[in-house]
Amino acid sequence: TTTTFPTDLLTIDQLSPTTLSRLLDRAAAVKAGEEPARIDDRTVAMVFEKPSTRTRTSFEAGVSELGGHPTFLGQDDIHLGHGEPLKDTARALAGYVDAIVARLNSHDDLVEMAEYADVPVVNALTDEAHPCQTLADLLTLRELAADCGKDLDEVTLAWVGDGNNVARSLVIGCALAGVDLHIATPEGYGVDDDALAGAASLGGEPTCYDSPEAAVAGGERTDGSRSSSDHLPDGADAVYTDVWVSMGESEEKLPAFEGFQVDEELLAGGVKLLHCLPAERGREVTDGALESENSVVWQQAGNRKPTQQALLLELLGE
Ligand code: CP
Ligand code: NVA
Repeated sequence: TTTTFPTDLLTIDQLSPTTLSRLLDRAAAVKAGEEPARIDDRTVAMVFEKPSTRTRTSFEAGVSELGGHPTFLGQDDIHLGHGEPLKDTARALAGYVDAIVARLNSHDDLVEMAEYADVPVVNALTDEAHPCQTLADLLTLRELAADCGKDLDEVTLAWVGDGNNVARSLVIGCALAGVDLHIATPEGYGVDDDALAGAASLGGEPTCYDSPEAAVAGGERTDGSRSSSDHLPDGADAVYTDVWVSMGESEEKLPAFEGFQVDEELLAGGVKLLHCLPAERGREVTDGALESENSVVWQQAGNRKPTQQALLLELLGE
């Protein structure tokens, strides 16, 4: 597996098992206050076409703490979206700053931004992918595993709900990290075949189930087959869900998700709950589940900052 860190982070599959593992080690060191590297006097532009609480703030605070300067450029602050083409914005910004963190509606736009900007570009969420979220998710799972004396590659995670941008990045991230993934999504809202094939090409083998209960319990697949590695999946250590209606989507899809809500019963026996947040209580997750002692969502949200700081150190560090 390659040991060279990519120059951008647009999708999580730009990392190898080795570079991902190194990044998580570094994030843990940052979190423990043991990372001496800095990005003194570097400026990071943050181009956001959609709202954000966690991503924006964790990047802004994270850059500042490392000695850098974040400059936030919201939808109505710059000419992008109001007449100036993306490729012009990308080249102008790259003339001033050392990196661009971008939350764009369209993933194709992000790819174009990276083509025209000759500084590192980081995906802060697009319609297709949320790799920075996956980094925090994996650090959280690694911490949960360590609490039980296990390694990250001994964890089983169940994804329940929409096969969306967060799921797509997670599927690849889990394959890179050796996390066993069970997936329960309603018909028509599964994780797309490209992501599943990408995971398979990395040796990951996500298993699909009909219901959240089946995904958490593990065991035989929906179609009754065994995995080709002949290993019968165990029950999940943690369950992860996200909103059913992502930013920019219509609520018309909602009826398909009946029966996919994560509640306290699904967490019985100490199954942990992850959610990238923001959550829509009463929809994909109950208030009881989110506030329960099995919920690790605040730990997970907190992990956005050290993982992104480690990422910036890899991208901008000497
Ligand atoms: N999880 C996440 O990306 O949250 P924000 O939309 O608040 O940044
Ligand atoms: N899937 C959600 C994630 C928000 C952080 C969305 O794209 O709106």
